Amino acid sequence: MQPRSVPATSTGTALRAVSRLPAVHRSLHGAQRPRPCAPVRAYQITYVGEDGSEVRVQASESDFLLDVGEENSVDIPASCRGGMCGTCVCKLTSGEVDMSEAGDLEGVLSPEQLAAGYILTCSSRPKSDCTVEWKQDWGVSVLDEWKG
Ligand code: FES
Repeated sequence: MQPRSVPATSTGTALRAVSRLPAVHRSLHGAQRPRPCAPVRAYQITYVGEDGSEVRVQASESDFLLDVGEENSVDIPASCRGGMCGTCVCKLTSGEVDMSEAGDLEGVLSPEQLAAGYILTCSSRPKSDCTVEWKQDWGVSVLDEWKG
């Protein structure tokens, strides 16, 4: 049996296909190229202490309010740091936060407390300029009040 010869038209087709490979590669490479990062938003956070003292700082939308406070000598109590215990409860008196990463938000704060502005600062990222009232023992007293 003799080997089959490849018709000239098939060879030409194959060569044209190979010559297009770099273009395909560039196209795939371009599609996989990482997109530039979106700019990070920064907000002004005002922490108001029990004695009325204020600490104003800048925080990015990726920061947790507990961490930003600690970095600026705002001594909000904390324990689990995952939205499970309620130790870091503070009251948001203005602004908006994202608490979607809290481990057990509904288990820690009642709907009434959430409506009243109580937040878990360990799991709160700012979505606007915010004012946060804090007390040394607020977490304990708020939870005691709620759980009876
Ligand atoms: S430190 Fe436990 S809920 Fe924030």
